[in-house]
Amino acid sequence: MKTYFSLVVTILAFSYIFSNGNKEMTLHDFMEDYVESAEKKFKKGDKEYLKKILLEIPNFAIDEDKTKWKEITDEAIDSGKLMSSCKNCHKLFKKEYKKSYKKRLIQVPEELILKK
Ligand code: HEC
Repeated sequence: MKTYFSLVVTILAFSYIFSNGNKEMTLHDFMEDYVESAEKKFKKGDKEYLKKILLEIPNFAIDEDKTKWKEITDEAIDSGKLMSSCKNCHKLFKKEYKKSYKKRLIQVPEELILKK
């Protein structure tokens, strides 16, 4: 009984540690639901949310594309032309990604999830 109890406590502790608030979705849904909202905010003069998103996007790439994605988003952030990143990345990666990774799930950190 005692062992059973400590097992339950351990499982609870672990599930607490790993329930880090990330939200799982496809990159496509992330782009449509969050990046587009960020674009709208940006056009109204609120640049912070889009900037936060751009800082995070390279983490959603498959390993071999990560460096290039980071170059694209870094360049946009450094130049202040945040919207240039969309085309720069889509031109190079969108078609391929759709073809091979459409169903791949990414972990979006809690702080990027818009409270609606
Ligand atoms: C570093 C890469 C990268 C950046 C930067 C990026 N995207 Fe994307 N985006 C992608 C990829 C890859 C897909 C394809 C995902 C899929 O369909 O599986 C995509 C898909 C989309 C889609 C879905 C519709 C479609 O045409 O497939 C929208 C909308 C979108 N992006 C908006 C944006 C906007 C707006 C920005 C800029 C503020 C942006 N994205 C910046 C990589 C990027």
